[in-house]
Amino acid sequence: MKNIAVIGAGTMGNGIAHTFAQSDYKVHLIDISEDSLKRGMDTISKNLDRMVSKEKITEDEKNKTLSNLTTFTSIAEGVKGVDLVVEAATENTDLKLKIFKDLDENTDANTILATNTSSISITQIAAAVSNPERVIGMHFMNPVPIMKLVEIIRGYNTSDEITHTIMELSKKLHKVPVEVNDYPGFVANRILMPMINEAIETLYNGVAGVYEIDTVMKLGMAHPMGPLQLADFIGLDVCHSILEVMYDGFKNPKYAPCPLLTNMVRAGKIGVKSGEGFYDYSESRKAEQVSEQFSS
Ligand SMILES: NC(=O)c1ccc[n+]([C@@H]2O[C@H](COP(=O)([O-])OP(=O)(O)OC[C@H]3O[C@@H](n4cnc5c(N)ncnc54)[C@H](O)[C@@H]3O)[C@@H](O)[C@H]2O)c1
Repeated sequence: MKNIAVIGAGTMGNGIAHTFAQSDYKVHLIDISEDSLKRGMDTISKNLDRMVSKEKITEDEKNKTLSNLTTFTSIAEGVKGVDLVVEAATENTDLKLKIFKDLDENTDANTILATNTSSISITQIAAAVSNPERVIGMHFMNPVPIMKLVEIIRGYNTSDEITHTIMELSKKLHKVPVEVNDYPGFVANRILMPMINEAIETLYNGVAGVYEIDTVMKLGMAHPMGPLQLADFIGLDVCHSILEVMYDGFKNPKYAPCPLLTNMVRAGKIGVKSGEGFYDYSESRKAEQVSEQFSS
């Protein structure tokens, strides 16, 4: 396996493209807009510069990584001749179903089709493809070049052979893959999101303030980041939509998003990317936090 297409050049897509390119895969980075591609490539370049300045990679390795990347605005063009597609477009079921229909029409039957979805059913996405055994979840964590885990999600029809290939491929990226089955929230978000939701509920009930709740979890449970700060990093809109998927999928009220979370999403206070969530992220503060993330 040598040629990879990554669909979506946003937060996750550019990190996934970076990671493959740094491990010497040829990567086609695809997005609908030239602007997103430019922003994605700028982010990759800045993150590589940071790695060079920390002496984690050499200038030559940086240049080689960049030379492994080519950008496309058309899925049909970008997926020509690739062995694997990793879809990391916006979290929206209809959009992903449409992209996988396009992939069904524009890829060979032996091209592996992976999705980085945080919560949408792999089995549902695979149903858009005529041979669903080649569809699998490859759930990278943010920031992708740094985080070790890849949650590998088997859809109902995913074959053993494809699962094995993707587990081995993840190891070649110096990641640790963990195989799980396809049920709402998979494993990572099924456990993480109720904790984040409960932290928001605790704030909503007036039990304690933002700082106090995060400090209890950071210093008391040795979490590197408090749940409210983590929610800001993930995006409150993303947290809200994952909880809705679990609420709907299990028909269980314990997954219902806290009304405060719903209100904050409606008000556009969705965390780091909007400049405000549980914490304030002015431009300078935002830059500081991203740099802290990459130094860990
Ligand atoms: N943000 C996280 O922490 C995180 C973590 C794990 C998984 N995910 C998942 O990764 C995926 C991407 O999330 P993100 O945070 O990078 O989103 P994002 O909004 O940062 O980026 C999405 C990108 O997809 C592009 N896009 C939209 N429609 C497209 C199409 N038809 N063809 C090509 N590109 C298209 C957009 O232009 C945008 O650049 C989602 O499925 C999300 O659930 C996100």
